[in-house]
Amino acid sequence: MIDSFGRNIDYMRISITDRCNLRCRYCMPDGVEWLPMEDILSYEEIGRVCRAAARLGIRHLKITGGEPLVRKGCPELIGSLKNIPGIEAVTITTNGILLEQHLDRLKLAGVDGINVSLDTLDRRQFADLTGFDRLDQVLSGIRRAVDAGFKVKVNAVSLKLDRDKDGSYGWERLAGLAREYPLDVRFIEMMPIGYGKQFETVDHQKLLEQMRQVFPDMEMDTAKHGFGPAVYYRVPGFQGSLGLISAIHGKFCGQCNRVRLTSTGYLKTCLCYEDGVDLRPVLRVADTGAEDGTESGCQELCRVMEQTIYGKPGAHCFEEPERITEGHNMSSIGG
Ligand code: GTP
Ligand code: 5AD
Ligand code: SF4
Repeated sequence: MIDSFGRNIDYMRISITDRCNLRCRYCMPDGVEWLPMEDILSYEEIGRVCRAAARLGIRHLKITGGEPLVRKGCPELIGSLKNIPGIEAVTITTNGILLEQHLDRLKLAGVDGINVSLDTLDRRQFADLTGFDRLDQVLSGIRRAVDAGFKVKVNAVSLKLDRDKDGSYGWERLAGLAREYPLDVRFIEMMPIGYGKQFETVDHQKLLEQMRQVFPDMEMDTAKHGFGPAVYYRVPGFQGSLGLISAIHGKFCGQCNRVRLTSTGYLKTCLCYEDGVDLRPVLRVADTGAEDGTESGCQELCRVMEQTIYGKPGAHCFEEPERITEGHNMSSIGG
């Protein structure tokens, strides 16, 4: 559907849990409060929201967390969402810890892409950043996913704490994954949300200059790689592309195509603000005790969602931190 700024909103990110099996320092260093199960949308409720979203023109779904694979039945949820008329692709963003053991079920479910968050290839730094010495497990998940033929992307938040002795940020080693394997490596500017506020972001204009120095033959890659905001570059000899997600120094809000659903059923229209609507009362009042797949229930859900999406803010205000109204951590928003 078209919002009040004329943008076509066709992508919904769904956080299915805010729990996680890592403790990234910029996300949830101390874990999260244990939410009662009844506060979390059931898979049936997520299905209803997605059916309403599909009616409104949502075509692509991204499953996120916390860590989505810690919630039981995640691959099967993906399979069921793929069957919704109008939904063209369902992808997942994971930290990779449980990836290898879920690959067969993800294959069966027909997931259209797997993004793995991995900020450093240094074992010690990985343990320091995430709280767990599990780099090998993540790398093994990535390799097996590539071997199994999945479309894989690696997400690396550009962290200054990655600074090597020579002053670079460790990005070259990560970029090397796209040479070694047919996968894309994307660098992400740190956004001032939750604990992210405590970190300084790497300026991607500077990173791009460094990339051009190291890879002088690098060229813009205009092929479509997904549904997100990354800008891609091709390097001769590389099997995959390099991407930049530059939320701060390359503001892409004018082309924004997405909304977010939190695990507690809040439909959130922009990362930066609290704006949105709690869908739980709509989902549950309409609930007749059994599953509410009724036409009137779905119409009411569509009406509330349509109104909220229409009012999506025009742009984030990360450059004016005092105007940011989002107070939650990234783990409950889903990135
Ligand atoms: P695909 O390329 O289709 O896989 O989608 P994607 O890049 O949107 O997915 P992913 O979950 O891997 O997100 C990568 C990064 O982009 C995360 O850090 C997100 O927070 C960031 N991102 C996604 N959407 C937005 C957005 O609307 N605004 C901002 N500022 N960042 C976003
Ligand atoms: N800024 C940018 N990206 C973030 N992520 C988590 N917190 C932040 C932040 N403050 C990333 C994760 C994951 C993706 C879903 O969001 O590393 O790759
Ligand atoms: Fe977990 Fe992702 Fe947050 Fe790290 S960034 S703690 S992997 S949800």
